[in-house]
Amino acid sequence: MAVHTAARGRTPDDDVITATALTKTYRQGTTEVRALDGVSVGVRRARFTAVVGPSGSGKSTLMHCVAGLDTATSGSIVLDGAEITGLSDRQLTRVRRKRIGFVFQSFNLLPQLTAYENIVLPVTMSGGRPDRELVDHLCDVLGIAHRLSHRPAELSGGQQQRVAVARALVARPAVVFADEPTGNLDSRAGGEVLTMLRRSVDELGQTVVMVTHDPAAARYADRVLTLADGRVVRDEDSVPAGRSAAPVTGPGAGRR
Ligand SMILES: Nc1ncnc2c1ncn2[C@@H]1O[C@H](COP(=O)(O)OP(=O)(O)OP(=O)(O)O)[C@@H](O)[C@H]1O
Ligand SMILES: [Mg+2]
Repeated sequence: MAVHTAARGRTPDDDVITATALTKTYRQGTTEVRALDGVSVGVRRARFTAVVGPSGSGKSTLMHCVAGLDTATSGSIVLDGAEITGLSDRQLTRVRRKRIGFVFQSFNLLPQLTAYENIVLPVTMSGGRPDRELVDHLCDVLGIAHRLSHRPAELSGGQQQRVAVARALVARPAVVFADEPTGNLDSRAGGEVLTMLRRSVDELGQTVVMVTHDPAAARYADRVLTLADGRVVRDEDSVPAGRSAAPVTGPGAGRR
């Protein structure tokens, strides 16, 4: 799969996102909540970054701003070489479609579509044709190849989230953002999803940013950013769990 990485000319050490002096203020009546209070941070390409911190520390706000789901109050965000601050909603939607994949806590699959249709949606929606080889590879390693004609309601939570992971990866976005992707899963299904995110970084050169409350989940990352009161208070590199263990122990192994 290294071919995909090389074809895009990616080098592992440049930043795919650069946020500078980011602030986000919510107004509630006469009071203001400063959800982000001057965040400057770069996200490295082809790395797995976890964002942790107490409830209310600004994790989701940071993710929503840098992913173009919400607009910052001030500061600058450069995503994959393009400044996204100041773009209109319509332009942001285009940026999100082209450059970003999302995995949410609640899976967010479309109930009327089959697993396969959900997976290829980001590609078909933008008028493209799915990369068959990549889709097959993803479904294979995710252990969902035999469930592709089923609708989400006929899948377990873990299977639904693995479909959501495949959907996030299929268009080869510049960044995959995951907000509490294991929040609704038991520890085993959660471990499978985290292993898949880890493998997408190691095997496909994918960039992943994950917001999590769970220290065990953060251990799958190469780097852990800790937020408190809307600021980055710690930035640590770590040796990820599951990196060398990843090869054949993924959810696909022994499951089909
Ligand atoms: N739409 C909003 N309107 C007003 N205040 C908001 C809004 N969204 C978030 N906030 C406030 O901004 C701060 C940061 O919220 P955020 O959702 O980013 O925290 P979080 O770190 O993701 O928390 P959690 O771990 O509970 O998900 C909190 O004080 C929150 O109450
Ligand atoms: Mg949150």
